[in-house]
Amino acid sequence: MSAAALVSPMTGHPLMGLPTGFQAEDGTLYPTTNGITDLLDVRLADAAMQAELDVFETIPIEKVCYFRSVLFQRILGLVLPLMRAAGVPPACVEIGGGEGYLAGAFHHAAPDHTGYVCDLSIRALGNADPALVRLRADVRFPYLPPNSLGLAAFWVSLHHFSSDDARRSLDVAVSSLAPGGLLLAFEPNDDFLPRHQFSRMRISRQVYFDDEEKSLNWRTIDALARAAELRLRHCVGVNPPYSLPFLRHFRLWPLFLIATETLYRFDRLFKHDSRWWRAGESGPLGLGTGSYLLGVWQKPFSGTGL
Ligand SMILES: C[S@@+](CC[C@H](N)C(=O)[O-])C[C@H]1O[C@@H](n2cnc3c(N)ncnc32)[C@H](O)[C@@H]1O
Repeated sequence: MSAAALVSPMTGHPLMGLPTGFQAEDGTLYPTTNGITDLLDVRLADAAMQAELDVFETIPIEKVCYFRSVLFQRILGLVLPLMRAAGVPPACVEIGGGEGYLAGAFHHAAPDHTGYVCDLSIRALGNADPALVRLRADVRFPYLPPNSLGLAAFWVSLHHFSSDDARRSLDVAVSSLAPGGLLLAFEPNDDFLPRHQFSRMRISRQVYFDDEEKSLNWRTIDALARAAELRLRHCVGVNPPYSLPFLRHFRLWPLFLIATETLYRFDRLFKHDSRWWRAGESGPLGLGTGSYLLGVWQKPFSGTGL
């Protein structure tokens, strides 16, 4: 699938489509190879980008989703009705999307909607569903035009950025959202105390790909979203159902399976599924009880209170 419209990472101006890729006003070429458009621009490369590339181009785990599909179904059950009610463009981007499992679930739940997956790693994008628009881009710089998206999702990715880079990537994402569009973040939750205890244990080295695994708290993301003039719609703590093929990559997988499944069952027992998910509307709910935080913010419609 080829992208309908892209912008220059250098200027944010529209790129011209060519049979073999895209071209900027200054003549810079951004090629499309095997269905992946490469918007990486050496003029913007820095140590942070190189460090992420070093980790994710060589990561020993590939072609596997961290979570079971029921998680994606629940999240889409929350955001698709909000998008329809807001009348926003039927398009979603998974930012730092890797192999694009959220974007893929979005596209399959609503095949008339466009799913973009945007990541630095050409290897990860090569494993993503070709039905998605696959963009190799540094998400700290522009890639999609203003007002082109109904949903921009940081899915297990925002915690990889420094605070300055998180703000830049979030501002870029918000500028591509149409009024009424949604920003979603699903990130490791710093308010979940067992996460801190686990990260101090030696076995945590088996699961964390970086030397230092970071997590985010709701206040940090909410402050970024509010600075971008977004309004909070939902924020809840979630214990996701991990997929067995992912867990089996780790030597002590039976232990991780028992721990994550116990937490997930706790959610199923006490959080009443969709009613719980909808409940985080007036403020964060149960953040201390979830290893992940799910936050949804909405871009105001111009001239309205929202
Ligand atoms: C933990 S992975 C999550 C991938 C995917 N969302 C998933 O859940 O399977 C984080 C991803 O963020 C990407 N990433 C980090 N910094 C980035 C940047 N500046 N621009 C684009 N992608 C970036 C990495 O390449 C990596 O694939």
